[in-house]
Amino acid sequence: MSDILVEKNDGLAVVTLNRSRQRNAVSYTMWQQLAVLFSELDADSDVRSIILTGAGCDFSAGADIAEFDAVREGADDSKRYEVAVDAAGDAIYGVSKPTIAALRGYCLGGAAHLAMSCDFRMAEANAVFGIPAARLSIVYGVSATRKLFSLVGVTQAKRILYTGKRFSAEEALSIGFIDQIGENALADARQRAVEMAENAPLTIAGAKFILNGCASGELDRQTAAALIDNASASKDYVEGRQAFKEKRPARFLGC
Ligand code: COA
Repeated sequence: MSDILVEKNDGLAVVTLNRSRQRNAVSYTMWQQLAVLFSELDADSDVRSIILTGAGCDFSAGADIAEFDAVREGADDSKRYEVAVDAAGDAIYGVSKPTIAALRGYCLGGAAHLAMSCDFRMAEANAVFGIPAARLSIVYGVSATRKLFSLVGVTQAKRILYTGKRFSAEEALSIGFIDQIGENALADARQRAVEMAENAPLTIAGAKFILNGCASGELDRQTAAALIDNASASKDYVEGRQAFKEKRPARFLGC
C-alpha cells in the first residue's frame, strides 16, 4: 500500500500520510512525493481545497529518523535531505487553493513543518506538538522556522526550538500554532473547506499570495498586482456582479 494516499471528491482532495505503524514518519521518498503531489493538486482545476492528515492515531512523528544513517549522514546528504523537506513544505505553502491540516496524536518536527505549511490547522484535544530538533543536533530549516515565527512570534518560537519540549493542543491554540480544537479534526477540516468552496477561487488565491508574502516578509508586489488585475478582468467578476443583481448564488469557475 502507498505511503501517501490521495482521495478526491466534490472538489476536495484529502492527502493522508499512511505509515501508521511508524506513526506516519515521513521518509525521504515521501518528502519528494509530497512536493510533486501538491504541485499537481494545485494545477488540478477539479480540486478547490486540500486537506492533509495522517492515517490512524497520529498526524506524523516527523521525519523518518530510522533512515537518517542511510539518507542524512554527512553534511552533503543532510543538505540534499533538507532541500527535499523544504520543497515539500514550500509546495504546500505555495498551493493557490486553501489547504487545511487535520491533526490528531503526534505532530512533531518535520511534520510540524508540513502542518505549518497549510493555511489552517484543525486539531483534536489529544494532539501533541513539538519540534525536537535540539535533541538531534539539527537546525530546523529557514523555511520551517520562518513559518513558525510568523505563527507564534519570536519568543514562543525560541522557546519551542531551544527546549524541544512537547506541548498540548490547548497550548498550541493559545499561542496561535493551531486555529481550532474539536472532537473530529478531519470533520472540522471538511467543514472549513465547505465554508470556502462556493467563494471565488481567484479572490482566495490573491489573498493567499499577499498574506503569505506578508508573513514571509517577501511579498512580490508585481505578482500581487497581476493577481488583482486578473481577478478584475475575470469571467468570475462578471458572474459575481450578475449573481448579485439576480439575487442568486454565484457559480465561480476560477477564470
Ligand atoms: N522516525 C522513524 N520511526 C519512528 C518515528 C520517526 N520520527 N517516530 C516513531 N517511529 C516508530 C518507532 O521507532 C516505533 O517503531 P518500532 O515499533 O519498529 O520500534 C513506532 O514508530 C512506534 O513508535 P514508539 O516510539 O514505539 O511509540 P511511543 O508511543 O513510545 O512514542 C513518539 C512515540 C512519537 C514520542 C516517539 O516515537 C518519538 O519520540 N519519535 C521521534 C519523534 C521525533 O524526534 N521527531 C522529529 C523528527 S524530525
